[in-house]
Amino acid sequence: MSTSFAQTPAQSGYRRVATRKMLTRTGGASLEAWTGGRQPLSMSTNAGAEELPFQRWHRFKEAFSPELIEQAVRESPIPVRRLADPFGGSGTSALTCQFLGIQPVTIEVNPFLADLIAAKLAQYHVPELLTALTRVARKATASRSRGAALVRSLPATFVEPGVKDRWLFDMPVLIQIARLRQAIEEESNPQVVRLFRVLLGGLMVGFSNAVVSGKGRRYRTNWEERRVDPACVLPAFTDAVAAAIVEIGAYESRPVRSSQVLHGDSRKLLATVGQFDQLTCSPPYPNSFDYTDVYNLELWMLGYLTSSDENRDLRRATLSSHVQVSREFAAAPRCARLDRTMRELRRASDELWDSRIPAMVGAYFADLQGLMRICAQALPSKGQAWFVVGDSQYAGIHVQVARILADLAPSVGLKVERMTPFRSMRVSPQQSGRHMLSEDLVVFSRP
Ligand SMILES: C[S@@+](CC[C@H](N)C(=O)[O-])C[C@H]1O[C@@H](n2cnc3c(N)ncnc32)[C@H](O)[C@@H]1O
Repeated sequence: MSTSFAQTPAQSGYRRVATRKMLTRTGGASLEAWTGGRQPLSMSTNAGAEELPFQRWHRFKEAFSPELIEQAVRESPIPVRRLADPFGGSGTSALTCQFLGIQPVTIEVNPFLADLIAAKLAQYHVPELLTALTRVARKATASRSRGAALVRSLPATFVEPGVKDRWLFDMPVLIQIARLRQAIEEESNPQVVRLFRVLLGGLMVGFSNAVVSGKGRRYRTNWEERRVDPACVLPAFTDAVAAAIVEIGAYESRPVRSSQVLHGDSRKLLATVGQFDQLTCSPPYPNSFDYTDVYNLELWMLGYLTSSDENRDLRRATLSSHVQVSREFAAAPRCARLDRTMRELRRASDELWDSRIPAMVGAYFADLQGLMRICAQALPSKGQAWFVVGDSQYAGIHVQVARILADLAPSVGLKVERMTPFRSMRVSPQQSGRHMLSEDLVVFSRP
């Protein structure tokens, strides 16, 4: 998911090369220019979209492909002028809309990701960005800060001496990051501050002693021997910003430049955004994977989180797809398939690794049913909602997400147009590791 800056012969620079190649091949600001006219083998999440301009500012493996949004818009029986995505992630829906001439509205609960999306969608003055980059680099180089304020704001695990002889950032690296952060925050244009901050965020895992994969975060193998070179921090940042500025300039004439990015809990906010002609989304799957955890490095190092209370509140604001924080779970909605799944989960409670899993699964469907109900109110007649969802499994009990949502649709006034399997996902190694769980597209419409 990230580049590591542990000392190796090859340093960064890959970004610049990739950008130049992409621009000679494409140019212009159509969707095709952005995607390079690629033909993705699958429309599912995980289909390689993280290599595209803007999307490579921060690798987001779970992003779905822009081509899926293009297909949704093309197949809509009504014209799509405004499209909503209540689970913004890396901003695929919103950015694709800007290329397609559609007004996007996006909601994202994670403040770092909400800023990342807003930074991708915003308009900039390229010469101002270049001047600001020079100023920030000069100030960071001249700074004598020892990063004390940043160290004070972080959990003990973040910086040496760490906890039990492990820490995420070596002190010399942290000092370089603190100097950069301070220089960025001193910029007077908030759009520039946000852009530079999220671009620094895109490098954060690479500066740390950890790696992030689809399974979460872990320490790099031999991290104690292969230390991150603090001298890489500033050049990596200036490279990343320079590459992003090239992309911003190359695609600045896309047809729509306005956007609405709401930071917060879509279970509350979706009802406030008004009418939209289509909705596309990929909610977190009910597999106990908490995105807050995966983005902890960016959230704390960039100052989005400064206390454990804020961390807990953010986790509580996320969809009920994990049991990593104690909270009230909403009651499961009723339909035969979900009733059966809930019964089986409760019966297997001794085999579950957390006793709250049945309640979490029930609340997951309550949350999504609530969002589907809002869709039914906000969409015009024949308007569609495209949901990409994935199944889960606990103690051998299969949670058939797409089918349960399809069963719940009539209760909120939606019709199921189609259900298409996208790919099979591996279940956890504890449960055999075979490819068994399905990721599906479910298309709902308002009759
Ligand atoms: C699978 S990702 C979406 C990926 C997105 N489709 C893309 O292409 O980048 C799910 C996102 O939902 C966000 N999320 C979780 N709970 C949320 C909530 N209650 N409100 C808004 N966003 C939420 C997570 O932070 C995560 O970024």
